[in-house]
Amino acid sequence: MTKYFTEEGSAETVNARMADGTNPRLREVMTSVVKYLHAFAKDVELTQEEWECGIDFLTKTGQISSEERQEFILLSDTLGLSMLVDAINNRRPTGATENTVLGPFHVKDAPIHQAGDSINLDGKGESCLFEGRVIDIHGEPIEGACIDVWSDDAEGFYDVQKPGEIPKWNNRGRFITGSDGIYRFTSIKPVSYPIPDDGPVGQMLGHLGRHPYRPAHVHFMVTAPGHKTIVTHTFVGDDDYISDDTVFGVKETLVASFELIKGETEWRSPFDFVMVPESSDPPPKAC
Ligand code: BEZ
Ligand code: FE
Repeated sequence: MTKYFTEEGSAETVNARMADGTNPRLREVMTSVVKYLHAFAKDVELTQEEWECGIDFLTKTGQISSEERQEFILLSDTLGLSMLVDAINNRRPTGATENTVLGPFHVKDAPIHQAGDSINLDGKGESCLFEGRVIDIHGEPIEGACIDVWSDDAEGFYDVQKPGEIPKWNNRGRFITGSDGIYRFTSIKPVSYPIPDDGPVGQMLGHLGRHPYRPAHVHFMVTAPGHKTIVTHTFVGDDDYISDDTVFGVKETLVASFELIKGETEWRSPFDFVMVPESSDPPPKAC
């Protein structure tokens, strides 16, 4: 192979520059990045103007990002990469609760509540009772599991999106299971909402004729000693966007039942979380 750059041998020439002592995992990842990046440019015969447009798009994506806003994650989400990485790293046996994207609105250390409490602080929206069990793959209850829950308000906003306007911890909280593995709390039946679409990712979606909406969902992070953490949502099945989530987060097993109770004035959504032991199937080593 020539040491000078040619169109044909471009990727190989770049990869040959890596030093012998390069971390093996970094070598593997970067070799593949260069290989497929060059293959992509060749595949579409990328023009100079298109390359500049891409650089400009990435520059704007960086410029709008801050502590509060991560536009690169939004880009990864809308390109399906976040869900692919999540799938690769969370392969579980049939029957175990499936993972989905974390999203940008999780807040650590939400208040811990007693079973049966309401976490809806603003009194807006359709009241909904969420209940079920945290169990292992054999159906045995898991005691001491923590269910961290968060969802949007009746207008489709998380408390962190409108601080001062929406009460802090609105529709968020943590619940700890007892020996029966049961959890129970009241919140609202969630509504669909658009992801932040006033930046470059929103523009990209517009150019591609894609909408920015996520179907109505409730986020859950379920942790228990000795078990793999579940990061997931439950979804409202009859939502307009259920088959068309802009971040591809929906899985069939996560579509929950929402049924009217109490003389048709309140909803109930039952769902069991099925956990697998920590030790099974470790994720691949990071570089
Ligand atoms: C969310 O569900 O909170 C979310 C996920 C991905 C991107 C934006 C929002
Ligand atoms: Fe969400």
